[in-house]
Amino acid sequence: MVETMARTRLLKPIKWVREDLKKKDSFWPTEELKKKAWVSNELIYKEAAKDPVAFWGKLAREEIDWYEEFSSEKTYWEDLPHFKWFVDGKLNACYNALDRHVKAWRRNKAAIIWEPESVNEPTRVLTYYDLFLKVNKFANVLKSLGVKKGDRVGIYLPLIPEVQIAMLACARIGAIHSVVFSAFSGRSLKERMIDAEAKVLVTADGYYRRGRSLNLKANADIGVEGTDIKSVVVVKRIGLEVDTVDGRKIVRLGLDTDMIEGRDFWWHDLMKDADSYCEPEIMDSEDTLFILYTSGTTGKPKGIIHETGGYITQALWTTKWNFDMHDEDLFWCTADVGWITGHTYSCYGPLLCGATMVHFEGAPNYPDIGRWWNIIQKYGVTIFYTAPTAIRMFMQWGEEWPKKYDLSSLRILGTVGEPINKEAWMWYFKHIGGERCPLIDTWWQTETGGALINSLPGIGPFIPTVAGRSFPGITSAILDEEGNPVTKDEGGYLVLKSPFAPGMLRGVFKNPERYEKTYFGVYGNKTYYTSDGARFLDEMGNIRLTGRVDDVMKVAGHRLSTAELENALTEHPSVVECAVVATPHPIKGEVPIAFVILKGEEGSDTIRKKLMDQVNQMIGPTARPDKIIFTEDLPKTRSGKIVRRLLKTLVKGEKIGDVTTLMNPESVEILRKKLASTKQS
Ligand code: PRX
Repeated sequence: MVETMARTRLLKPIKWVREDLKKKDSFWPTEELKKKAWVSNELIYKEAAKDPVAFWGKLAREEIDWYEEFSSEKTYWEDLPHFKWFVDGKLNACYNALDRHVKAWRRNKAAIIWEPESVNEPTRVLTYYDLFLKVNKFANVLKSLGVKKGDRVGIYLPLIPEVQIAMLACARIGAIHSVVFSAFSGRSLKERMIDAEAKVLVTADGYYRRGRSLNLKANADIGVEGTDIKSVVVVKRIGLEVDTVDGRKIVRLGLDTDMIEGRDFWWHDLMKDADSYCEPEIMDSEDTLFILYTSGTTGKPKGIIHETGGYITQALWTTKWNFDMHDEDLFWCTADVGWITGHTYSCYGPLLCGATMVHFEGAPNYPDIGRWWNIIQKYGVTIFYTAPTAIRMFMQWGEEWPKKYDLSSLRILGTVGEPINKEAWMWYFKHIGGERCPLIDTWWQTETGGALINSLPGIGPFIPTVAGRSFPGITSAILDEEGNPVTKDEGGYLVLKSPFAPGMLRGVFKNPERYEKTYFGVYGNKTYYTSDGARFLDEMGNIRLTGRVDDVMKVAGHRLSTAELENALTEHPSVVECAVVATPHPIKGEVPIAFVILKGEEGSDTIRKKLMDQVNQMIGPTARPDKIIFTEDLPKTRSGKIVRRLLKTLVKGEKIGDVTTLMNPESVEILRKKLASTKQS
């Protein structure tokens, strides 16, 4: 009998032990799923736990090509919190992502299927061999610009294939890439480029968003000024005469791009004459592959360092097992490459597995709300990975939209970036996954390099609001303030225990104290502090994440610190003082609310707009406060510290306790009234 694409079998409901998790809403994999899955025997957890170092060592040998084998792993845990993986091993990340496949049958397999935002522009399909050629050429371009092993290269590109080409080209020559999200402002780019001491920047003239062309180069120019960047390579995305598949040409409106003689070069000019082979640099396992800046609790973003051998081992195996990636699959991770999810699951992980990925340049609702589902139908996506915030957005738009499309090719769904609420989980499971796709809720961080807590598709269980168990070979724990394990309901702080995952950060760029203090300053050198709250739900080790416990927000899945926002606002000459807190939001998960004291002027819509613009310029539109509340006073302790905890309680509309110990208790009631009368966003 011919098998149809559609799999109609529903996942089996779980028999659950706890009352708050209704049986009918929790699921185990079907026999069919188990049969197909790379891992379906739960003994894997036990086996890996016996000797995690040996377990990861075996994985690293199995799928990674090493120029020189690594030595026994056991000895590199003496200097905690500094640790090493696969020591003395020599390899190249780009070789593993491309050459390995190009030498075998995957040579002409599609690596990237790129869907442009405009429906009139053709799809770009890059096979492994295409990608290999382009990466080699660009590696030679970088060399010709003087980039050497260990140099930092900034990448400030929209979601076009050149972003992966640039990253892999850096990896090929041993340069360290530092990608900055293209929606971040020029100022944000500059701050990161200065810290990274980047030599070269790769950017584009612009990109499309909801049909409009945005001038990225103008932002890049702001970002480059005053840095060590000597050369800027500019991809012509806007104004490009696109070569089409059937000889049809699409001429775009064009955008005037100011190119600075001697500093700025067009990507296509440099690529034209570049050699098509570049010998990969032999890298040590512990050589840095990339730095990615992320928000911490201070106003200054931190450069998270990821090393080569450990990171790619974890990227490869978490892609393969968490998403049950097979050669015939088509994987779509909607994350932009400017974030860690895009590094690991829109670039390295799938390519290391030899998988085919879809990437989409544009906004999810452009030209209409059906766009994402249309893409799934158009290419036959089998594994789909997105953020809860996107799911909630689609939920609000209604299930009529996904219903218009055939989504039967899907077999696995994933989510990442913030806790997913039950309604969104069920909607995603039902209306996108047709109640037959396991929903893998992956918990991880920029710092962990790859997903570390989630159910595996062939093992399960899949329970709304519960991420699952730690990946085999990973030990997590939930502790109270004193460091005692919390086993009961109340929850506590999520930590990871040594030996840490191979893909974990090795440091904060140029700031070793910050590394030691932030991650190991709470429970000591053997215990990585995640800054997340969590609860164990059963003896199996299934974990529910409850959100950040520090001053880091997740706004539509984007990581932001309240301190960064406060810095941006106080830089405005009209602002005397301000405090920013996060508050729950039905779609975005969390949004920032800013309380602002002005210098001798009344709050008005004009100044509000100016402050919003200030945030746009300093950080980017993702950080715009949902509300700005002007006030004359902020609740403070007697020593003059703003009590942000109280502000959080106020914005959530929760009951305020005793405020008599404050320096200015009356400020609380004034703010409560102001909040009640403020409606803006
Ligand atoms: O609070 C956790 C939340 O996102 C934080 C890490 O953010 P970032 O470094 O930007 O990386 C996001 C993508 C890996 C975590 O500290 N987070 C991430 N995934 C989940 C999550 N919270 C709950 N459930 C998740 N699945």
